[in-house]
Amino acid sequence: MEASELLEQILPTAMYGSVVRTVGMTAAAADFPAPVGALAEIHRQAGPPLLAEVIGFRDHLTLLYPLSRLNGVRRGDRVRLIRTSRWLRVGRELLGRVINAQGEAIDGKPQPMLPDRVPFDRKPPEPCSRPRIDTPLPTGIRAIDTMLTCGRGQRLGIFSGAGVGKSILLGMMARFSTADVIVIALIGERGREVREFIERDLGPQGLAKTVVVVATSNEPAVVRVQAASTATAIAEYFRDQGADVLLLVDSITRFAMAQREIGLAAGEPPTTRGYTPSVFALLPRLVERTGRSPEGTITAFYSVLVEADDPTEPVADAMRGILDGHIWLSRTLASRGHYPAVDVLESLSRLMPEVVSPQHLEAAQTIRELLAAYRDHEDLISIGAYRRGSNPTVDVAMELREEIHALLRQGREERSVFEEAQKQLLELAARAAQMRQSKKAPPPGGNSAAATTPNRTAAQRAPLTPS
Ligand SMILES: Nc1ncnc2c1ncn2[C@@H]1O[C@H](COP(=O)(O)OP(=O)(O)OP(=O)(O)O)[C@@H](O)[C@H]1O
Ligand SMILES: [Mg+2]
Repeated sequence: MEASELLEQILPTAMYGSVVRTVGMTAAAADFPAPVGALAEIHRQAGPPLLAEVIGFRDHLTLLYPLSRLNGVRRGDRVRLIRTSRWLRVGRELLGRVINAQGEAIDGKPQPMLPDRVPFDRKPPEPCSRPRIDTPLPTGIRAIDTMLTCGRGQRLGIFSGAGVGKSILLGMMARFSTADVIVIALIGERGREVREFIERDLGPQGLAKTVVVVATSNEPAVVRVQAASTATAIAEYFRDQGADVLLLVDSITRFAMAQREIGLAAGEPPTTRGYTPSVFALLPRLVERTGRSPEGTITAFYSVLVEADDPTEPVADAMRGILDGHIWLSRTLASRGHYPAVDVLESLSRLMPEVVSPQHLEAAQTIRELLAAYRDHEDLISIGAYRRGSNPTVDVAMELREEIHALLRQGREERSVFEEAQKQLLELAARAAQMRQSKKAPPPGGNSAAATTPNRTAAQRAPLTPS
C-alpha cells in the first residue's frame, strides 16, 4: 500500500461520545463525530464492551451498527473510538484454515501466527495498470472449461434459484481447480450448511490450499458485509505475491441483503425490492478489487440467488452488468439429474475468445449450435413428431445427444483435467461436423430436394410442426 493511502487513513482516535437512543439494530451516539466505517466500542454497565461500526449520521447523532447483539446497552453508555481504518493480519499460515470476518480462527485449532497486515478495503488496481486477461484458468469443471472457458483474472456469476447446485459447484471448483490459492467466502449461510460445505463439499483435500472466511446468517449485517471484504483482502494479499488466486463468494445475494439491512438502518431510501442505493454502489467496488494485476490474478466466482428463478431480480441484474460472464444453472436440468446443471445456452463467458485457441472456440460453437437445434425442436422430438431427415443439424444433435451430455455432465467426485476435456470437445465437434457434412451431401444421382433428406422424396418429408 502506498504511503499516501496510509496517511489518508490516519486520524486521531481519542474520541468519546454517549448513547442517546437505539433504533432497531442501531445505537445513536451524541458528541461522537467519528467517520463512516470507523470501529467504536460501547461500554455497557455490565459485560465486556460491545464493538460497533459507524454507518452514518442523522440529526447531530452518529449511527452505530453493533458487531454483536445490542443487549444491555443503555442511554448514557460511553462510546469510544477504537480505529478509523481497519486492518487484517494475513500470511501463508491462513491456508487450510477457517476464519471469521475479523480474521480469527474458528476451526478449533490455535490462532495462526500471521506476519503481515493488509487493509480491509483497498482500492482496486488502476484500470491502465491492469494487464489483459489472456490465459485460461482450469476450473476442474468440464462444462465450464470446454464451453465457457474462463481466463485468469475473470469475474463470473453463478446464477440460479435456491437449491439448484451453486454451492456444490463451487465446492467442486475448490477441490479440482488448478489455482495456486483458493479463498472462499461463505456469507449468510446457515451454520449447518457451513459445516456440511467444509466437511463434505470441500474435504481435507480441498481445504489444504484454501482459506475459508465464514459469516453465518445469524451474525450482524456489518459482519456479513465485512466477510466479503476480508476474503477479497486475503485474495489480494496472495495475488500481490504473484499467485493465481480463485475467489469463491457464496453468496453475493446474501451480502447484498446484509448491506440492505445496514442501508435501511442508516436511513437510506429503499428502491427496487427494498434494496438501498449503497448496495449497488458497493457491489462494483467489491468486484473491481479482483481481476488481474501486474503481480498476479484473482479469478472470482460469485453465486447469485435468483429468487423464484426471476431473472429481473435487482441484485442479479446489477451483477450481470458488472461481471465478465454468467453461468446459469437450470432447475429443469437439475430435475432431470443433469449435474452440474449448467445451461450452456443461457450462459456466457465474455473472455473466452481471448483465452482459447480458434479451434477450441469453433468446436464450442458447433456444440452450442447442436444444443440450440435440439432445444428448438425438443417439444416435437419428445412427442415423436420430428421426422429424422428434415434438418441435418437436428439429426446430428439427436444422434450425438448422449455424447454431448457425457461431456457436460460430471459427478461430484470426478475431476476434469483441462487438456483432456479440451481434446474430448475437439473430437466431438469434429465428428459432428463430419456427420453434418455427410447428411448435407447429395446422394449419388439425387436432386436438390433430396439434398437435405437423403433417404426420402420431397413428398414424404415430414413437416416440422404437426398440423
Ligand atoms: N453435482 C451434483 N450431483 C448430485 N447432486 C447435486 C449436484 N449438485 C447439486 N445437487 C443436489 O442439489 C442440492 C442442492 O445443491 P446446493 O446446496 O449446491 O444448491 P444451492 O444452489 O447452493 O442452494 P441454495 O440456494 O439453497 O444455497 C444438493 O443437496 C444435491 O442434492
Ligand atoms: Mg448454496
